[in-house]
Amino acid sequence: MNTESNDQQLSELLATWPVESAPLSVDVDHVNHFYGVGEMRKQVLFDNVLKIRPGEIVIMTGPSGSGKTTLLTLIGTLRSVQEGSLKVLGQELLGISATATTELRKRIGFIFQAHNLFASLTAFQNVRMATELLGIPDEKANPRIEATLKRLGLGARIHYRPKALSGGQKQRVAVARGLIHEPGLILADEPTAALDAESGREVVTIFQELAKEQQCTIVIVTHDNRILDVADRIVSMVDGRIVSNVLIRRNTLLSQFLTQLDLFKVLNTTILSKIADKFDLRKFAPGSEIIKQGDAGTEFFVIGAGNVAIEIDGRQVNTLGQGSFFGEVALIRDQPRNATVRALTSVSCFVLEKDDFQSVIQSSSSFEEELRKAIFTRQ
Ligand SMILES: Nc1ncnc2c1ncn2[C@@H]1O[C@H](COP(=O)(O)OP(=O)(O)OP(=O)(O)O)[C@@H](O)[C@H]1O
Ligand SMILES: [Mg+2]
Repeated sequence: MNTESNDQQLSELLATWPVESAPLSVDVDHVNHFYGVGEMRKQVLFDNVLKIRPGEIVIMTGPSGSGKTTLLTLIGTLRSVQEGSLKVLGQELLGISATATTELRKRIGFIFQAHNLFASLTAFQNVRMATELLGIPDEKANPRIEATLKRLGLGARIHYRPKALSGGQKQRVAVARGLIHEPGLILADEPTAALDAESGREVVTIFQELAKEQQCTIVIVTHDNRILDVADRIVSMVDGRIVSNVLIRRNTLLSQFLTQLDLFKVLNTTILSKIADKFDLRKFAPGSEIIKQGDAGTEFFVIGAGNVAIEIDGRQVNTLGQGSFFGEVALIRDQPRNATVRALTSVSCFVLEKDDFQSVIQSSSSFEEELRKAIFTRQ
């Protein structure tokens, strides 16, 4: 951990690690959905569960017809929830009233495939329609509309009507319209499909800024693999089911940290990213006991920040800092903890459960070898 960018990445990882207890922006809980009636009734979503935290950028992918737009429109209140529970910005959507729906929609920004721009209005006026509907006064809205359209590369075309704009330019007007009221949640269906690489990048950069500065949550349905790198989470759907849900950004940063440590260097990228998915982050106050001599060992620890003391029979025998690990002996030998580990400063640890730890050992003989080497030199 010697270069500045590594340090930055590690601090980002520690600062943005999702807190289990934090409120959710979107909470999809066992949602089923059906189209059609009677004999034509067909189930298109099966038992979907998806939890999204404030400020997360989620990319949803999957084959055509897998249910992405259906799920997105359910989250956006554009379709009624039939079965299960779906909470958006704290509001339950199952059985929601019309008034509550109207209020909630004001806090959501929509950017959908069909741009639906008004042909008789200019780019500027199309965006102002959105702010007018929300009752945002002109003096506040106008400069913001102008700045956003400029930002999206439409500076020279602010007062053009849609018919004088290319497909990509129209799409950018739709993007501006979707985010102009600074919503808490943005739902975008293929927002970059009609854009060239550069404007596609500009759109996702704006998304990233909104997510970071305003804790705006963003769900993007896309097949565009040029923008996958902005995702905090990638969700894949197949045949109406969420088949994978990975905290990609967190895992990438954690893998980068782990791969610099001798112990983890020996793992290949696939195993490393799989294992990164299993780690939890835990924080300890100075003076607190992280593990206790004599206790049964159920977890393995890697220090992300801070220093700890190793104590045997009440005597301090060693100290460990960032990048060091502890807790492995009890797990390997299936014995009680042979030492107490106490936080000397504020400590953040990446923690792996026994079963996951053992599955890494089984997956890599060089990992086990490294581990034994480390234990041997330490004693
Ligand atoms: N209004 C509708 N009435 C009946 N069936 C529908 C309706 N809308 C979608 N479906 C069906 O529901 C399934 C899921 O469709 P959905 O539009 O959610 O998929 P998608 O993942 O967004 O696909 P794409 O990538 O092509 O946009 C498909 O089988 C589709 O044919
Ligand atoms: Mg779709």
